[in-house]
Amino acid sequence: MMDGRLFVICVCFILNVSNVYATKQTTKSNRRGADDCNPTVVAHRGASGYVSEHTLGSYALAIDMGADYVEPDLVVTRDGYIIARHENQLGVSTDVAQRPEFASRRRTQRVSGNLVNGWFSEDFTLAEIKSLRSTEPIPHIRKHNARMDGSLDIPTFQEIIDLVKALETVKNRTIGIYPELKYSSHFQRLGLPMERKVVDIFHKNGYIGKGAPAFIQSFEVDNLKMLKKITDLRLVQLFDERSKIPYDQSLLGNNITYGQMATPNGLANVAKYASAVGPSKSYIIPRDLFNNLGQPTSFVRDAHAVGLLVTPWTFRAENLYLPRRFQRGNNPNDFGNLEGEIRAFINAGIDGFFIDHPEVLVRIRGPC
Ligand SMILES: *[C@@H]1O[C@H](CO)[C@@H](O)[C@H](O)[C@H]1NC(C)=O
Ligand SMILES: *[C@@H]1O[C@H](CO)[C@@H](O)[C@H](O)[C@H]1NC(C)=O
Repeated sequence: MMDGRLFVICVCFILNVSNVYATKQTTKSNRRGADDCNPTVVAHRGASGYVSEHTLGSYALAIDMGADYVEPDLVVTRDGYIIARHENQLGVSTDVAQRPEFASRRRTQRVSGNLVNGWFSEDFTLAEIKSLRSTEPIPHIRKHNARMDGSLDIPTFQEIIDLVKALETVKNRTIGIYPELKYSSHFQRLGLPMERKVVDIFHKNGYIGKGAPAFIQSFEVDNLKMLKKITDLRLVQLFDERSKIPYDQSLLGNNITYGQMATPNGLANVAKYASAVGPSKSYIIPRDLFNNLGQPTSFVRDAHAVGLLVTPWTFRAENLYLPRRFQRGNNPNDFGNLEGEIRAFINAGIDGFFIDHPEVLVRIRGPC
């Protein structure tokens, strides 16, 4: 016979366990997923229209505004850490040029084919980079962002994941991460390849398989094909100008252009390793010489035919980036009618937007 008191304890224990289980299940199954809404809002470099790009402040604001994904660009430090910057030339978006202690690190080198002068992430340890502060890369356009210069540091990829996980709890929804590997072959040649590190960090943090709220993007090709072998996370082939050759392919003497990769045959090949494509907007709706939107191309249809999602770049609210009919007033830095441009691209059937002002798309999309 079971002792009464033990029975009570046992029941409590079982209730407790099932309670914990139920809570976990509820969180997992009820929480809105990063891919549940359409079209997907990918906050480009964070809410970079409002806070200088690739800072925790910029990612946090994007999440608060309702973005489904935050988009960090990734480069590597001398000691092999993965940090978020659009350029490995730190002079573009940090105060390194004002730091006398680093003056001697300035140099010129070739980065992915271009001659670049400045201070490079691969010449700095993470500790040194942590002593720098972020600055707005386009202060003449985004003066309000430049007012925050000096107040935010350079985040590591892990710190971005930590922020996302903390805010998922606050927001009660899953928030995805959409990193881009920058200058992949450059870092490979330096002996600082980032592909495996990024995958390891994702896997270690529980981002595993096609269902994980994660995409890894690159303008290069062979790094994505290699990633396909070591992870089931979804991959994104980015497309630069039609006439250009992906940098890693040009090193191999392969002359395939992005334009050729964007044909139905080219897209079928991309679909063998990627889940999505990230073309510039002009692949979807070209503009004419007078900066007016033309007719949509067959790109979305061709990509969808082989199962690829289409997420073009980059949507920005300032007049200077908008087609003529969506501009407002004469100041190129003022906000125009980004809503108008977004609607044209929703009508063209795209699946997601890389956007600097994510709240505009969240508002147009409505509740989901
Ligand atoms: C979280 O969101 C889901 C639906 O999206 C809802 O059912 C659930 O009650 C929410 N939980 C909390 C704690 O707000
Ligand atoms: C590209 O390479 C192919 C095969 O090597 C060659 O036949 C073709 O002429 C090249 N095209 C250009 C534009 O270099």
